[in-house]
Amino acid sequence: MTAARPPAPPEPPPADEPARARATWSGRFAEPVSERVARFQASVGFDRRLAEADIDGSLAHARMLAAAGIISHDDFAAIERGMGVIRADVRAGRFAWSIADEDVHLNIEKRLTALVGDAGKRLHTGRSRNDQVATDLRLWLRGEIDAMAIRLRALRSAFVDLAERHAATIMPGFTHMQVAQPVTFGHHLLAYEAMFARDSERLAGCRGRVNRMPLGSAALAGTSYPIDRDAVARELGFDAPCRNSLDAVSDRDFAIEFAACASLVMVHLSRFAEELVVWSSQRYGFVALSDGFCTGSSIMPQKKNPDVPELVRGKSGRVFGHLVALLTLMKAQPLAYNKDNQEDKEPLFDTVDTLADCLEIVADLVAHGLAPVPDRMRAAAREGYATATDLADYLVRKGLPFRDAHEVVARAVREAETRGVDLADLPLADLARHSPLVAADVFDVLTLEGSVASRDHPGGTAPRRVREAAAAARAAIARESEAR
Ligand code: ARG
Repeated sequence: MTAARPPAPPEPPPADEPARARATWSGRFAEPVSERVARFQASVGFDRRLAEADIDGSLAHARMLAAAGIISHDDFAAIERGMGVIRADVRAGRFAWSIADEDVHLNIEKRLTALVGDAGKRLHTGRSRNDQVATDLRLWLRGEIDAMAIRLRALRSAFVDLAERHAATIMPGFTHMQVAQPVTFGHHLLAYEAMFARDSERLAGCRGRVNRMPLGSAALAGTSYPIDRDAVARELGFDAPCRNSLDAVSDRDFAIEFAACASLVMVHLSRFAEELVVWSSQRYGFVALSDGFCTGSSIMPQKKNPDVPELVRGKSGRVFGHLVALLTLMKAQPLAYNKDNQEDKEPLFDTVDTLADCLEIVADLVAHGLAPVPDRMRAAAREGYATATDLADYLVRKGLPFRDAHEVVARAVREAETRGVDLADLPLADLARHSPLVAADVFDVLTLEGSVASRDHPGGTAPRRVREAAAAARAAIARESEAR
């Protein structure tokens, strides 16, 4: 129903050689690192996920090297051929990852050299793993952001569809969890659409800052080769090269910003999930969740638990944790690259996976798993003197100052409460005893329909405004889809 996500990468086959084998950078070392250290510092177990971005980045870099005469065109052709083989092997899950080669970059480079010889050894000219990894991560994240934007729009569409169908369904609106004023269910749902629309906006802004290219920064200071950064950036679809080489290899603010955007989406999903948990409880009964989204209890046969919303609510904590992990990772790093940054990947990957899962499952639930129970919502709206404000406004329209009207209505509510009825159930004579301004037309505003219909301005809960807002949201979603 939403963007296809690539399947999780397969587990690495067992290391094909001991981790103590000669490392690519081992020339200046008298002794190989211990097996323990090799394992401790290897990231290939997780950064394999960047393989395709790594290949794309390398090809663009190599093409530029050839165009600038830094390597030969034959070397580039060999690199391109070798990378084709590697890409196919990675996709088929048959690439033999080895922790002896530390990370995704060295694994691929070593295999390339095995495939095409010296050309493979020339690929790393004018480049460092420091600008390489930052480039890979940005390329990968950009793709994930684009997929996430599609999921967000699908979720928003599901909210809009349901809101439109319930533009006139009355429910109590709450403040402090107390019944406050009647609203429509459609209006309530569109509040979430508005939150997710801001999330879409935020994500688009984040994408712009992710989409800058570190390549060319090399280890930290740039390179003495006559490189063409603009050409590489253009080929990789980056908006521009990063402006400062030290910053480019060092900062991970783009990842942190994504985690912050994701955290806000999770806040919004979690708030909605909480409402579903409350609404689907026996006490409320505002909605029924279809069986496919619930589970039973192993001991209480009557139970049907709202597991999906509860898990969404719970998973928000894990995404906030990743945000804090990334912030903490960055905060005390001196310029420029430090190995700390290798720790940026797992939190970022899990943020993407968790957010994607939650967006898809909530969209599915809103579209197919939610049966509103309008009678229960309506009954709850009637129980809480939800139209008291409407009575006050009625008196104000008849000339009473608002504070006095507030007082009159408070007394009327007290009477209704004592008699155990709603304001609308009090006879006209009894209502009129609280203020001589009350006439028969008071019942127009005391009804739930009259109350919601009177909030008839942009952003208000009147059914015709809700329909208008739903149409506007739908148009905005369509415009955003076309813009990409
Ligand atoms: N695996 C490393 C990372 O994720 C790649 C960069 C390593 N650079 C270095 N100078 N050791 O950050």
